[in-house]
Amino acid sequence: MKLLLVVACALVDSDNRVLVTQRPEGKALAGLWEFPGGKLEAGERPEPALIRELAEELGIEVKEACLAPLTFASYAYPDFHLLMPLYICRRWEGTVTSREGQALKWVRPGKLRDLAMPPADEPLIPPLVDLLGA
Ligand code: C5P
Repeated sequence: MKLLLVVACALVDSDNRVLVTQRPEGKALAGLWEFPGGKLEAGERPEPALIRELAEELGIEVKEACLAPLTFASYAYPDFHLLMPLYICRRWEGTVTSREGQALKWVRPGKLRDLAMPPADEPLIPPLVDLLGA
């Protein structure tokens, strides 16, 4: 089965809330809430890929030293196996803005499980709640 590498980030604000973004209409899993991030390009390391995606999607600048790996998802979708590291980031430059028309939401870690998320993202919630509290 094809292996797909996606890198994702839990941006955490000063109120200990986490950012989720809504997958737009027309994309796979449209309407579901996910941690921002995206696919690695060929030859790209995870951290630069995440920095690139966060700049493209949210207009923020993140330093590699501000990305801490927390856990990763490993999920077999029907067409591919998704491997997705999740990083935590508490410091960035610029204001989080929707650059691609996607809805954005800051939520308490304990409220993440109330959202409809892609199945690969759901196992990422307990380690986040362990780290950040509910
Ligand atoms: O965002 P993009 O469509 O490029 O992601 C490729 C695939 O990875 C999605 O179709 C989805 O199945 C999966 N994905 C996911 N959780 C994310 C991001 C992507 O399950 N946070």
